[in-house]
Amino acid sequence: MAGLFVSLEGIDGSGKSTQGRLLAEALRRAGHTVTLTREPGGSPGAEEIRRLVLEGHVDRWSPETEILLFTAARRDHLERTIRPALDRGEIVITDRFADSTRIFQGITRGDLTDMVDRLHVLMIGVEPDLTLLFDLDPSLGLARATARAGTELRFEDMGLSFQERARAGFLALAARHARFRVIDAAGDAETVADRVRSVLAPHLPRR
Ligand code: TMP
Repeated sequence: MAGLFVSLEGIDGSGKSTQGRLLAEALRRAGHTVTLTREPGGSPGAEEIRRLVLEGHVDRWSPETEILLFTAARRDHLERTIRPALDRGEIVITDRFADSTRIFQGITRGDLTDMVDRLHVLMIGVEPDLTLLFDLDPSLGLARATARAGTELRFEDMGLSFQERARAGFLALAARHARFRVIDAAGDAETVADRVRSVLAPHLPRR
């Protein structure tokens, strides 16, 4: 694939969606063509699956069923949005990708790592060029995430220890893969945006 594929990861409330918007705006101002997208979602079919997985009771789906639903959404997102944009040579910024499944379904409620990895190889098979991990104290993240109005609280309802396991899992994943950059997500949005821009600068295609 041509283009540059960047994923944003982190616990709930880590600020990655705000940072994704700020980054996309900055890159567009600099003359790049950017597709800013998100998971679960990012294509019409995947947005429908988003409602199924993010709304409703905590026990609505087992972790195994979630793996299938998130992977189905990701496959559609990849086919309809990500791959076409990369083929056009664009910078694709996705707010979450496969690392979220590795963490939220793979390790936070028992060890389903093998199942997640095998399904990823079978159905997705690509990794981002660069993954920005927004690292934040989970109690700050959870307070931010639950303060947001809305009905998409199924994962926030899983509680603080769930988010703590997720944070530790993300940091461990980052230590194992060279594509990760860990960004300190504490501080105001502009300060964090500066950190993001300096991390990304060496990877940008020349204009
Ligand atoms: P968001 O709040 O960043 O939009 O993410 C929605 C929730 O979905 C978040 O709590 C994490 C969860 N999630 C998973 O559990 N597995 C996944 O594969 C993805 C993409 C998200």
